[in-house]
Amino acid sequence: MEKYDATAFFYDQRYLPLQLKKYEFMEVHHLFSNTIMLDAGCGTGLLHEHFKNKFQGNVIVKGFHVGVDLSWCMLKLFQEKLQVQPEPKNIVVCLIQGDMDHLPFRDQSFSSAFSFTSLQNLPEISNGIKELVRVSKRGTSVLISILKKSVNMDTIKSEFSQYFTSFEMFNEESLEDVIFSCKVK
Ligand SMILES: C[S@@+](CC[C@H](N)C(=O)[O-])C[C@H]1O[C@@H](n2cnc3c(N)ncnc32)[C@H](O)[C@@H]1O
Repeated sequence: MEKYDATAFFYDQRYLPLQLKKYEFMEVHHLFSNTIMLDAGCGTGLLHEHFKNKFQGNVIVKGFHVGVDLSWCMLKLFQEKLQVQPEPKNIVVCLIQGDMDHLPFRDQSFSSAFSFTSLQNLPEISNGIKELVRVSKRGTSVLISILKKSVNMDTIKSEFSQYFTSFEMFNEESLEDVIFSCKVK
């Protein structure tokens, strides 16, 4: 929390291009529509901004977006952006300070879930994955990206086959993360 609080103010400047590359590569906007969506480790809201830019002016797109992050400063920056550029009526955003290790939600609350470049911060990545699965409805699409250097492929693959009916792994050379596209059992 302290690390991200201390660096929040230059996060976008340093990481926006890197994060955008991941969102674009996965074409994440296709998963955004009429859903109750969780962004675990949402940071300053780059993923949300990306969705907004893709769907500018499209009133058909509806959604309830919940961003969870441990860092108050990252969330504050996210909230400031929402104040500068308010959401269209059909999109509701809710920001919560919380821990991905103990997500503050009931089981099966979400119909889509994302976690970009955040899980590697947990003491055990697998606990974070379990939590994402617990709070997602059956059949939910979950997109998870984890810094390559933090991933033990063998462990992760056996974890994923426990929780997901299917998962696809994208290990693109130009990205610093390995990305998993999964469906909850
Ligand atoms: C590299 S940033 C990624 C932010 C965002 N997902 C993006 O795509 O720009 C990692 C984020 O994970 C958050 N984080 C770290 N540990 C966390 C935890 N245990 N629970 C919730 N968020 C956490 C940090 O505060 C930070 O905002």
